[in-house]
Amino acid sequence: MIDELDKQVIEMLWRLNQQTLHRMQEPFQVATKTNYNDLVTSVDKQNEREIDGYLRQIDPGCQILSEEGFGSQGITDPAGHLWIVDPIDGTLNFVKQRDHFGIMLALYVDGQPTLGYIMDCMNKRLYHGGPGRGVFVNDQRLSAPADLSLREGLVSISSPLILGNVNQLPTVAKAASGLRMYGSAAMEMIGMLTGELVGYVSHLHPWDLAAGRVMAEELGLVVKSIDGTTPDVLSSNLVLIATKQVSREIAELTD
Ligand code: IPD
Ligand code: CA
Ligand code: CA
Ligand code: CA
Repeated sequence: MIDELDKQVIEMLWRLNQQTLHRMQEPFQVATKTNYNDLVTSVDKQNEREIDGYLRQIDPGCQILSEEGFGSQGITDPAGHLWIVDPIDGTLNFVKQRDHFGIMLALYVDGQPTLGYIMDCMNKRLYHGGPGRGVFVNDQRLSAPADLSLREGLVSISSPLILGNVNQLPTVAKAASGLRMYGSAAMEMIGMLTGELVGYVSHLHPWDLAAGRVMAEELGLVVKSIDGTTPDVLSSNLVLIATKQVSREIAELTD
């Protein structure tokens, strides 16, 4: 059943990507949510509605947790099939840059990471995989990133954490080869999967983390809350995704 769902979701994501790129060329609505830099567009909502409808068709009885909230409220138990959906990740990039955004989707079964998908929309690259399945970009299998240290690689730490000197994270940035901020958890997760980054630290909602976590763990990367605990699937967490070496270094450098 999981293999069949995997095949259907991959087909759906390619169709949805075509539609997303088309919708981006047409006028679309932009609204603010909690503040001026927290945006949602009509494309986020259309995508979410379509993903929701499709998942309910191919996986009846599943639970769906999605950012813009179709039927998502009130999930307190990850039992059974739980799909976690970010219909556009990097909405600010989508609006301001028309680039560097993604679509993310994950399946957790009884709370366990099972399938993960990140569509890099503009580059038409779909990252997908799961435990024991490997991780692929389109049809090409990714190898596990090298276990590099901070000084050997680039890190991404989200801007509020750097600007607010949260947990002394600027110290981590200083110890690295360089600091990058992509403005999209999807793009940053891809950076981790491909070895472009050696560490990523951000405060992430369930839909920002779920897909990348499935694939990062399959590639032997560390995914944990900054306090060392396992992130809760249904909560927002201050998390790090890192090589083993960088995970140890971050633990030493932060409080
Ligand atoms: C946001 C982006 C951003 C991250 C925020 C997310 P959205 O997602 O991934 O990089 O720092 O925490 O909420 O709202 O564009 O889907
Ligand atoms: Ca958002
Ligand atoms: Ca989003
Ligand atoms: Ca997001």
